[in-house]
Amino acid sequence: MSPSTVVDRGLEGVIVGATGLSNVEGLEGRLTYRGYDLNDLAPNASFEEVCYLLLFGELPNRYQLEDISVRLAANRRLPQALIDWMQATPKNAWPMDVLRTMVSGLALFTPVMEDGAHPSNPRAAIALIARTPSIVAAWDRIRRGLTPIDPLPNLSTAANFLYMRTGKPPSPEAERALDTYLILLADHSYNASTFAARVTASTRADIFAGATSAIATLEGDLHGGAPGKVMQMILEIDQPERAEGYVRELLARGERVMGMGHREYKVRDPRAFHLERMAQELGDASDPKWYAIARALEAAADNVLREHKPGRQIHANVEFYTAPTLYSLGIPADEFTCMFACGRMAGWTAHILEQLADNRLIRPQASYTGQARLPWVPLDQRGRRDAGRSGLPNGASPASEAAS
Ligand code: COA
Repeated sequence: MSPSTVVDRGLEGVIVGATGLSNVEGLEGRLTYRGYDLNDLAPNASFEEVCYLLLFGELPNRYQLEDISVRLAANRRLPQALIDWMQATPKNAWPMDVLRTMVSGLALFTPVMEDGAHPSNPRAAIALIARTPSIVAAWDRIRRGLTPIDPLPNLSTAANFLYMRTGKPPSPEAERALDTYLILLADHSYNASTFAARVTASTRADIFAGATSAIATLEGDLHGGAPGKVMQMILEIDQPERAEGYVRELLARGERVMGMGHREYKVRDPRAFHLERMAQELGDASDPKWYAIARALEAAADNVLREHKPGRQIHANVEFYTAPTLYSLGIPADEFTCMFACGRMAGWTAHILEQLADNRLIRPQASYTGQARLPWVPLDQRGRRDAGRSGLPNGASPASEAAS
């Protein structure tokens, strides 16, 4: 069979694998985890229930939920050496750099097998899900010159995270909002970071390697790096009535409206509905300004993008209302992508285990666009390429170049 010469740039529409974890129905705007609609999970489940569902394939009964909740709580504490490492890190380090490094660093404090790898199993997945928010909370305090706070075992993942940032147990509304946020972000089929995790796992690298790849891939603003920039837009707009002019100027400069558009969804992202509601409720209880600007920005972006990109279906994605939601919870914009990682760690680890359970090395092909076969040129017959000067023709004498 001759190799295909068709290049699918960005793998758009290409099916590269199977998963039983989540299903994105982009035309209908539906997302399901293991068959359960996110619109049912978001208002009814807890993040712990969703972790169980993703890792073990079914909703937990009361005993199973208690068990995973206890195990998550028991794994939250970070090795002291990791905290010391963060203490020694420059305070202006970017939170995503710190998170990626520390998640990778967790491997150093986890027992290895004979071949040097770490066991990749649900136990390791639970430890990673439990410790990721602890790293984010610890770094948040350390960079502000504060002492990290020990986790509390009797709190949910969401409540404990907020407690570890402030030292105060959160309000039930704040806990519920963050819990829902974590559920909404927990999985999303073969998105870029999950795919990176699966590619890494497909080489039989271990769960820490897969999780680290995933975090590295999350950080760009075409993926998880968008919500911080959405918040930057909201702060710059400052007044709802300035939203439309802002969007027009942005597009005139050839820039994109962050938090708008999605490779899979051709309608509004179903997660945006829940996030918008939370942003509004949290805003009503604290400062309604951020939600009001976000609402005006979405309406303006819908209008102006319809004009500028006719025929394109560009609507609010999950990152859009993430920004006012997390901001209203007191989380700074440069930590938003880390929050995404806290939820998505559940999906990443479940995908890594799913990949390993039925593995085949993921190794695609590329269409070669370089030179055709060239004759070998001995070193002293090659042209010289100086910095700042394009290459001289092959065969130019090095001696004459030196003299020139
Ligand atoms: N603002 C302005 N234009 C946008 C846009 C946005 N947010 N999203 C897509 N477009 C335009 C592109 O400029 C392009 O226009 P063109 O064909 O005239 O050149 C067209 O829509 C298709 O864009 P493309 O990047 O090929 O589509 P995609 O399927 O790869 O896009 C995203 C998906 C998410 C990368 C894209 O919508 C985007 O960059 N959004 C902003 C960043 C963001 O919110 N990221 C978080 C994603 S969850």
